[in-house]
Amino acid sequence: MKLVMATNNENKLREAREILSPLGIEILSQAEAGVDTNPEENGETFAENAMIKAAAVYELVQCPVIADDSGLCVDALNGAPGVYSARYAPKGEECQTLLKEMKHVPDDQRTAHFQCCIAYIDAEGYGTVSASCAGKIGYEERGENGFGYDPVFLYNGTTLAEMTADQKNAISHRGAALRLLFEVFRERYGDKHADK
Ligand code: IMP
Repeated sequence: MKLVMATNNENKLREAREILSPLGIEILSQAEAGVDTNPEENGETFAENAMIKAAAVYELVQCPVIADDSGLCVDALNGAPGVYSARYAPKGEECQTLLKEMKHVPDDQRTAHFQCCIAYIDAEGYGTVSASCAGKIGYEERGENGFGYDPVFLYNGTTLAEMTADQKNAISHRGAALRLLFEVFRERYGDKHADK
């Protein structure tokens, strides 16, 4: 079965392929599906934005679609940057901008979580799955892996940028949401190919 993921982000595609491939699902990127759309993500929640992206692609293809929306919610900033995570600072400057804004926040108030929502649409209907990853914001950037806020997000004392891709997938918001989606799709499309 073919499915289109409403993204051209290689990290997101690789993670989704790794987790969903045991169901015999082939995941195409937007580009591979020949779709060129970039809808305005003007929802107020991760679920709304994920559904906006999924719906825009579903209008143009004849097969099931998934789309994810994610971001970082910092408790001391009342949940910001949240759905604005991608627009919080110029690309590459998000960690330093966040560290500056949190300069005077004491250790016990530096809690935060990543949130991920994945929307799916097919001929039978639509739905969403969501998951989060709780941690703390550190005081400096550490690690070379990952992207976005990974170098300042501490999970049990280690930043996500210090983890391998497999270590991060095992505990991340996106990994957890994809594993929930695996269960939804196993129910929906059958598990004759599933080996886990
Ligand atoms: P979007 O889901 O592609 O709209 O992007 C959300 C933004 O949230 C990204 O640009 C990153 O800044 C941030 N973000 C989401 N997930 C992660 C993650 O796993 N690590 C670091 N930053 C993330």
